[in-house]
Amino acid sequence: MALYALGDLHLSFQADKPMDVMGKVWKRHERKIEKYVNRIVKPEDTLVLTGDHSWGRKLPECEQDLAFIENLPGRKILLRGNHDMFWDAKKTKQLNEIFKDRLFFLQNNFYAYKDYALVGAKGYTFEGPFYLDRRGRIVGWDEEREARAKKLVDREMGRLRESFCQAKTAGYKKFIMFLHYPPTNIMEQTSPFTEIAEENHVTAVVYSHCHGETRFGDSIRGSFHGVQYMLVSGDYLNFHPALVLE
Ligand SMILES: [Fe+2]
Ligand SMILES: [Fe+2]
Repeated sequence: MALYALGDLHLSFQADKPMDVMGKVWKRHERKIEKYVNRIVKPEDTLVLTGDHSWGRKLPECEQDLAFIENLPGRKILLRGNHDMFWDAKKTKQLNEIFKDRLFFLQNNFYAYKDYALVGAKGYTFEGPFYLDRRGRIVGWDEEREARAKKLVDREMGRLRESFCQAKTAGYKKFIMFLHYPPTNIMEQTSPFTEIAEENHVTAVVYSHCHGETRFGDSIRGSFHGVQYMLVSGDYLNFHPALVLE
């Protein structure tokens, strides 16, 4: 039994959204997902998909994408990404009822893996625009957008706290924390997300959303203040699910 994670499948079986314009790694990426997930993940394993599942805007436009995910091996737990328009934040319970025992939607709740609680939320990071000097150093940023981002961070932190709270009420003391957005933006060393991870002594923070060579280093990777940070964007991993826990 093992715990794996992979993010940003960006499926589009019913939407006209060719992903290969994003680079070679995206060429027939759904075939790679099918091949590598089937090779690595066993039926008794858990696979957390960290958001941006489908380009469909409404649930009927995602049917084939979600069916594709359902057909992958293991227990599939889905986190909400910024492109998951089909997933109304207030209707997670309904999604869990519709897909009962087939797909598991993580928001304002938690799932157990051995003696760990899998907690999470979409998260949010301020992504600029940043203003750079000739040497590429940050000399300023859009303050209006930053103020808006702070509100979104607060909302996501509320959802994340709820997830932790439910897990603790159920008696869990060990946590793996999932985010869609990176835990920090390019100018931050720490954020409310790294702080809550440290406060709760989480074993790992797993996130995605960052696409392309130039963005993979946007946030923390590896060990920081005793927490392991893992980037699991599909294109970063060439669509191989990453092992989080054995
Ligand atoms: Fe994405
Ligand atoms: Fe995203």
